[in-house]
Amino acid sequence: MQILVTGGLGYIGSHTSVLLLEKGYDIVVVDDLSNSNIEVLDNIFKITSKKPAFEKIDLKDKKAVSKLFQDYTFDGIIHFAAHKSVNESVNYPEKYFSNNVGSLENIIDEIKLLENPINFIFSSSCTVYGQADLMPIDESFPLKEAESPYGQSKRQCEEVLKSLHDSGHSFKNITLRYFNPIGAHPSALIGELPLGIPENLVPYITQTAIGKRECLTVFGNDYETADGTCVRDYIHIMDLAEVHITCLEKLISSNDDSLFKVYNVGTGKGTSVLELIHIFENVNDIKLNYKIGERRKGDVVTAYADTSKIKEELNWSTKNSLKNALKSAWNWELNLNKDE
Ligand SMILES: NC(=O)c1ccc[n+]([C@@H]2O[C@H](COP(=O)([O-])OP(=O)(O)OC[C@H]3O[C@@H](n4cnc5c(N)ncnc54)[C@H](O)[C@@H]3O)[C@@H](O)[C@H]2O)c1
Repeated sequence: MQILVTGGLGYIGSHTSVLLLEKGYDIVVVDDLSNSNIEVLDNIFKITSKKPAFEKIDLKDKKAVSKLFQDYTFDGIIHFAAHKSVNESVNYPEKYFSNNVGSLENIIDEIKLLENPINFIFSSSCTVYGQADLMPIDESFPLKEAESPYGQSKRQCEEVLKSLHDSGHSFKNITLRYFNPIGAHPSALIGELPLGIPENLVPYITQTAIGKRECLTVFGNDYETADGTCVRDYIHIMDLAEVHITCLEKLISSNDDSLFKVYNVGTGKGTSVLELIHIFENVNDIKLNYKIGERRKGDVVTAYADTSKIKEELNWSTKNSLKNALKSAWNWELNLNKDE
């Protein structure tokens, strides 16, 4: 089985690539390195002793995508590649629509030419729910006007996939709405590697703990939550990687040539920013320099998943603890800085 992994050198893609190789899949990693590093390929090799095929392609380039589909035959596609910075998307919305939606459309144009139904997994995000009225969030909740062009681009991608399904084209799709992935591979050879100032909380925490950043600012402690800080559903990256294997197996084994499913992927548990900081401090025996700042524009207050659909239909749930995730994130940061 040959699987195309777009964005396979990025954070979630690299961890999933490792599991795919360990499960015996052949993979073709496509990445334009706009938010990743070619060394990740070597580290995937160090972990798995397998070197995946790699193509440095910008998926916005329609001709290059056509050639990719001429050069290889794929049994499945896991489409991670996208820009993901919520803040950047506010300043450069067009960059987000052209890459996130445009790249998907280029791939879909090739899918339409295939004879057999392809197995397709799409990376969506809980941002499509905006600030939901109730918690936990289940998949039937309305998709609200997204808070950012990034969220809006994910929503548009979901619509593009739905249109393909509704058109009657044979195509098996699972869309995964990720909550908040954190942590790193237990080897500490791959992990989240933000270029520039991290936007996500955990890389900011680890970079502050190691001294790269002076102080972590907690954006607001006057929200209507137990301790006043925002609440998120943090999922260990190894659990998130694993769910792609479960979904791929489901798609491959299904006889329904127009299977079309959407699942939340989270733990089902909300954790506040302050709780997360304190767990990080305790498990790693570190005192973190942090301060309380103003609320940040665009942050939803609370978001955690109802995970019953994926549990019932795919018998999948998370295995790793938050403590384990925060330990692995710290080990990854230590490993990144071991020579400095
Ligand atoms: N990390 C999160 O918190 C999170 C949460 C919800 C959803 N997602 C989604 O999951 C997916 C993967 O996220 P991630 O955290 O691994 O991001 P990432 O930035 O680490 O990985 C994305 C990879 O795609 C590549 N890429 C981007 N545009 C490309 C293009 N046009 N052609 C080829 N390669 C391209 C980048 O170089 C990068 O290696 C994204 O679609 C993202 O929107 C991420």
